[in-house]
Amino acid sequence: ASAKAVQAQQAAEQAAAALTAEVLEREVGRRRNFAIISHPDAGKTTMTEKLLLYGGAIHEAGEVKARRSSRSATSDWMELEKQRGISITSTALTFDYNGCQLNLLDTPGHQDFSEDTYRTLAAADNAVLLVDGAKGIEPQTRKLFAVARLRGLPVFTFVNKMDRPALNGFEIVEQLEKEFGLQSFPVNWPIGSGDRFVGVYHRPSKKVVLYEKRGQAGRSKGATKAEYDLDDPDLKDLIETDLWEQLQEDVELLEVLGDELDLEGVMAGKVTPVFFGSAMNNFGVELFLQTFIQLASKPAGPAQTRSGVAVSPSSPNFTGLVFKLQANMDPKHRDKVAFVRVVSGKFEKGMKVRVARTGRTVTLAAPQRMFANERQTVQEGFAGDVIGLTNPGAFAIGDTLVTGPTLAFPPIPTFSPELFAYLRCPPNQKKPFLKGVEGLLGEGAVQVLYNTDDYITDPVLAAVGQLQFEVVQYRMKDEYGVDTTLEPLSYTVARWVKGGWAVLEGVGRLFNTTVMKDVYGRPVLLFRNDFALQQVLGEHADKLGELSPYALP
Ligand code: G4P
Repeated sequence: ASAKAVQAQQAAEQAAAALTAEVLEREVGRRRNFAIISHPDAGKTTMTEKLLLYGGAIHEAGEVKARRSSRSATSDWMELEKQRGISITSTALTFDYNGCQLNLLDTPGHQDFSEDTYRTLAAADNAVLLVDGAKGIEPQTRKLFAVARLRGLPVFTFVNKMDRPALNGFEIVEQLEKEFGLQSFPVNWPIGSGDRFVGVYHRPSKKVVLYEKRGQAGRSKGATKAEYDLDDPDLKDLIETDLWEQLQEDVELLEVLGDELDLEGVMAGKVTPVFFGSAMNNFGVELFLQTFIQLASKPAGPAQTRSGVAVSPSSPNFTGLVFKLQANMDPKHRDKVAFVRVVSGKFEKGMKVRVARTGRTVTLAAPQRMFANERQTVQEGFAGDVIGLTNPGAFAIGDTLVTGPTLAFPPIPTFSPELFAYLRCPPNQKKPFLKGVEGLLGEGAVQVLYNTDDYITDPVLAAVGQLQFEVVQYRMKDEYGVDTTLEPLSYTVARWVKGGWAVLEGVGRLFNTTVMKDVYGRPVLLFRNDFALQQVLGEHADKLGELSPYALP
């Protein structure tokens, strides 16, 4: 009888394991995690809002913007945010669509650019490149695209504002090729632009979808069907002759770009599916969303651990990666939040995890998720989800959280700083000043360098965006009570000397560069511009050996 009991027990365990595996497969399989890459004003907020509308996460256009401005009333974390009307704190928005769960990671751009922007992109599985149809590819997009490229993310392109006079679709395709080396596969193609934007041709279904201008007497007003065949005689009556002729011609030309989507190319980030539409008028957004959930990469996460072992997103043991730390989001609580990307297994509220770096066990008691800038408590999560954990100082950027065997994901890369400034300490405030610098450094708010002359002890802040300086100064004052001053330095390029001080001494005197050390005492060369760097390289490349634009791991 006892043998039978053991058998029954084993069978029950096996069934439970199979069920968990099934749940994991299903949940991971329905998740799509992405970040939008765009230049300010291209329409990211508008697009986000429309996506949330389709996901049923909001019910009225305008809610995202409304919340964005009302939030500063509920939380004055960062007065700065309010002053600048920017969003530093939101990190991931979650919504469902057609059975999929979409996690949109927020990557602030423009002057709000900071290392967090890069780090958030480092936690995404897909990138959506949002382009203003009139302007084409713009500068801010290039930096962010470089990170997406570094990670080999699949890129989906949405060309927005087609209801405004726009570049020809082929010009956009050419820019994508020239600027980013991306081959385009237009999924839909615009028919006209500006006032004469009448719809798109959907290539996979070979159907024309007409755009219904709300409240305006557009040509498509007489449309009786949702979709038209290219040779449908009704279509000829519905759109102006020259647009109709142009469409027939374009469709032929598009054949040259191939009529089969190279899925492997998309997954490798070499081919981008391209969509055209107008986020503001809600045209083309759903067409985009439908194709996106079919093609986008499912949660992958860091493919390998530092020891080279691969972790499958549906493996039963929970693992997570801390990719961003945010302090003081709510001044009432003065708390810190660590943003974690679930890499494998199932996350559950209240679970105990180990921090691989320290071996410390932490109970994840109050996990949160951001929903249109409001916090919600999370009960469970799966690979690809982003969870905010109140951070009792236990976490650092790049930490791996585990429940099973200890393992660690590769470090999150630091990014080459482009802005440098002395942070000056006011008299008699050395103690809180140093405490503040250490705290902010530990959080990854900014990188810090020091002068090699020991009598100059004020730190040099090194950042990728001006906002990081402002955040540091604001928080030094607000949290540590220190009124700092900032003294900008005119360097724009940093290079870490891989060979260390020995190599540097071997080179002798260097012109056109300043030597500093990082917090680990390693030599860093600062240059005014790329030209100065090239000059130094021209003279000393062989002796200097390898230089790295990033802090060495
Ligand atoms: P961002 O987050 O990328 O900075 O852009 P955002 O969505 O705030 O859009 C920037 C401006 O472009 C907004 O106008 C927005 O209404 C407009 N816009 C977005 N999508 C489209 C589109 O498809 N067609 C056209 N014509 N305009 C679009 P704004 O005047 O700055 O703000 P608002 O007064 O409309 O809120």
